[in-house]
Amino acid sequence: MQATKLLVNERAARLNLGVERLVNRLVRTSDAVAERLHLGGRAAKYDDVHYEFEGGAADSLRKKHYDKSLRLLWKGEAAMPWSTFRDMSEHERELVDLAERNMSDDERAIRKRITSDEFKALLDREYTVEQKRAIVAILSAIGHGEAYAWLVSASLLHEVKSTGAKAALTMQVLEEAKHFVVMRELMQAFGVGVPRQSAWEYLLLEGALKAKGLDKFFAMNVLVEGIALSIFGVLSTLPGLEVLRLFHLDESRHTALPLNYFREFPMSRWEKRSPIGRIRRISMTLPTLPLVMLLEPHFAVLGIDAFDFAGSVMRKVTLLSERAGFLQGEEAEAQTKFFNDVFNAYCRATRERHTDKDFMSAETTTGKAELAVEREAFA
Ligand SMILES: [Fe+2]
Ligand SMILES: [Fe+2]
Repeated sequence: MQATKLLVNERAARLNLGVERLVNRLVRTSDAVAERLHLGGRAAKYDDVHYEFEGGAADSLRKKHYDKSLRLLWKGEAAMPWSTFRDMSEHERELVDLAERNMSDDERAIRKRITSDEFKALLDREYTVEQKRAIVAILSAIGHGEAYAWLVSASLLHEVKSTGAKAALTMQVLEEAKHFVVMRELMQAFGVGVPRQSAWEYLLLEGALKAKGLDKFFAMNVLVEGIALSIFGVLSTLPGLEVLRLFHLDESRHTALPLNYFREFPMSRWEKRSPIGRIRRISMTLPTLPLVMLLEPHFAVLGIDAFDFAGSVMRKVTLLSERAGFLQGEEAEAQTKFFNDVFNAYCRATRERHTDKDFMSAETTTGKAELAVEREAFA
C-alpha cells in the first residue's frame, strides 16, 4: 500500500488510548458484576475477545444448516412465475433465459411462465370449489404457522449458543419469512378466502411462541414443523402446488436443527427428564388432537383419511422428539400407543364401520422426491 503518513499529536493519541482502556475496564467490570447479581449486564452473549458468540464456532452447525440453506435457497419468482415476486438476480434470470433458448418448442411450452390469470384458470380447471376450500383450510393451518415460525426462530436467536447455531437460525428466520409471504400469495390465488386460525391452531402456536428457552425447539422445530413437513408431503403432488416441494425440503432441514444443536450442546439430565418439562411438552402437543378432528372433513374431500395423516405425523414427531432427547424410548412407546388408541376410539365412535388399525404406520407423503427426503431425515 502506498500512503503518506500524516502527523498526529502523540500526547492526544496516548490520552485517548488511556481513556478508552479505563472506560472499557469500567463497563466490563460493572456488567460482569451486574450479571453475577442477576441485575442485567451485557446484553449480547458475544465473546469479542475470541471473535465468536459464546459457545464458540460450532462449525458443523454452520455447515449443516447455514451453508446448506444458502446452497438450496430458492426464489419465489422462479418457483411461482405467476406471482408478484421479483427476487431473482440478473444472473439467475439470464440462466433461465439461456436454458429456455436451448429448448425445443415442446419443452418451452411445458416450462412456459404462466401469468397470474392462467394460474387461477388452472386451479379452476383442476379443482371444485369444495376441493379448493379443503386445500386452503389444510394449508392455512400451516400458513398461520409460518408467521409463528418466523417469530419463534427469531426469538431463538438469543437463546442458542455459538456462531454456528446463530448462523443456522438466521437462515431459518429468512426461510420462514419467505414461507410466510409466498404461502400467503399461493393461498390467496385460490380465491376462496383464507380462514383465521382455529382455536386449536391458536393454542398450539401461541404455546410455541410462549415456550421458555430451548422448549421452543420442541414446540416449533419438532412439533409444528413436523406437522408442516407432513402437510407439505401430503399436498405437494397436487396440480399447482408443486412449490410445496421446496417448503418440504426446507422444513426437513428445520426439523433436524434441535438434534444437531443438542449434539453440540447437550441438554442436562434435568432438562431431558424433568417431569414438569415432560408435562409442559405433552400439554403443547394436546391441541393437535382436536385439530385433526376439525380438519377430518377437509382431508376427506381430498380422499385422505385424517387419522392416517395424523398417525404419519405422530410417528415422525415422536421419532424427532426421541432423537433430540425430549422423550425416552419407553415414553415414546407409551405415547404412540396412547394416540393410536385415541384415534381408534374416535373412529369407532364416529364412523359407520371401523376396524381398529395401526394408524402410526400410515404414510401420507406421496411425492418420490419428498419420500426420499423423509427417508434420509427419518432413517
Ligand atoms: Fe416454514
Ligand atoms: Fe420451518
